[in-house]
Amino acid sequence: MRGIILAGGTGTRLHPLTKAVSKQLVPVYNKPMVYYPLATLMLAGIRDILVITTPDDQTPFRRLLGDGAQWGLKFSYAAQPSPDGLAQAFLIGEEFLRGEPCCLILGDNIFYGVGLPVMLREAATLTDGALVFGYQVAEPERFGVAGFDAAGNVTSIEEKPQNPKSKFAVTGLYFYDGSAPALAKTLKPSARGELEISDLNRLYLAKGKLKVRKLGRGYMWLDTGTYDSMVQASEFVRSVETRQNVMIACPEEIAFSQGYIDRAALIAHGNAMKQNSYGQYLLRLAEEAP
Ligand code: DAU
Repeated sequence: MRGIILAGGTGTRLHPLTKAVSKQLVPVYNKPMVYYPLATLMLAGIRDILVITTPDDQTPFRRLLGDGAQWGLKFSYAAQPSPDGLAQAFLIGEEFLRGEPCCLILGDNIFYGVGLPVMLREAATLTDGALVFGYQVAEPERFGVAGFDAAGNVTSIEEKPQNPKSKFAVTGLYFYDGSAPALAKTLKPSARGELEISDLNRLYLAKGKLKVRKLGRGYMWLDTGTYDSMVQASEFVRSVETRQNVMIACPEEIAFSQGYIDRAALIAHGNAMKQNSYGQYLLRLAEEAP
């Protein structure tokens, strides 16, 4: 399975913060935001990843992430000239995907929870249909919303409905089979002028090929759409990291634990940042590893 991180968009809701810097590069506590969705893909075992950004942001993203070899990954880059919708990722990424199944994650979506790696690895075995995740939220009307029948099967997907059929928002983590680009090509722009991911999901639903897996309260799905939610996300990460002395979404740690890089590489990453707690954490991991 291949991965796409969609990290374009104008970030106008967070101006002036994101006027000169991509939203997905602003800090969430001690890491750039994009590390979090990247870590999610890594935990799913996905190593071949297309990073889609605005044309202007290609340079800073490449500076941050490089070609991925430092973490045992392979990054490709593509530009989205204007934010014409999430489903456009499949038109831009068609060649990269080569007809293979794909996991699309939004560059501003942060997932955390016990059992997440197992659940992600299972999701990454998908070869037929689509799998998305539902998360109970206080304001479902701000999101794509899934409706369910009495047996818990998904019956509807609506984008920002005025009268949501459930409290379950569809998160920005999507698994699709190889037909996503072909289906995305049939989509028409919505009233807000975007190729909607909810419309793509509805195409799978109409074929009886959409699964919505609910994430229970043991999971955290963080939204970074406002100044306050940005601070809340940072506070959440800081609370977990300082209390437990473990890092959330540390690519070096995941790469090491999954055997993508060896101890010498982990030590080299640690030494490059040894003056701060991030680097010291990596050096401690290398020391404590069996
Ligand atoms: O976060 C989950 C929600 O994401 C889903 O529940 C919705 O169904 C889905 O439509 C989307 O909601 P938003 O409309 O609020 O997404 P937004 O426009 O904020 O874009 C999400 C991220 O994707 C953001 O970091 C910018 C980036 N983006 C957005 C668009 C429209 C792109 O990179 N390219 C785009 O064309």
